[in-house]
Amino acid sequence: MGRRLKPEAIKIQIQQGKGAMPPFQDALSDDEINALVRYLEKARSKK
Ligand code: HEM
Repeated sequence: MGRRLKPEAIKIQIQQGKGAMPPFQDALSDDEINALVRYLEKARSKK
């Protein structure tokens, strides 16, 4: 998982997908995606 994307860019990538990564906006609610972004930010800040 990259260290450079801003939270908003992570959210967009989860919603729309990118390259070989599929979109998740039909599978995950907005709340679920927001929770994922928070989780990823937290994991990133630990290092
Ligand atoms: C809920 C599950 C997932 C989350 C939260 C997630 C999140 C992310 C994020 C944040 C990135 C951007 C990383 C960066 O550029 O720094 C990324 C990239 C990527 N993900 Fe996922 N991902 C998920 C599931 C998947 C799945 C199921 C696949 C493949 C079947 C996948 C394939 C990829 C690929 C190939 C990239 C690189 C895309 C590119 O830049 O071309 N991801 N993912």
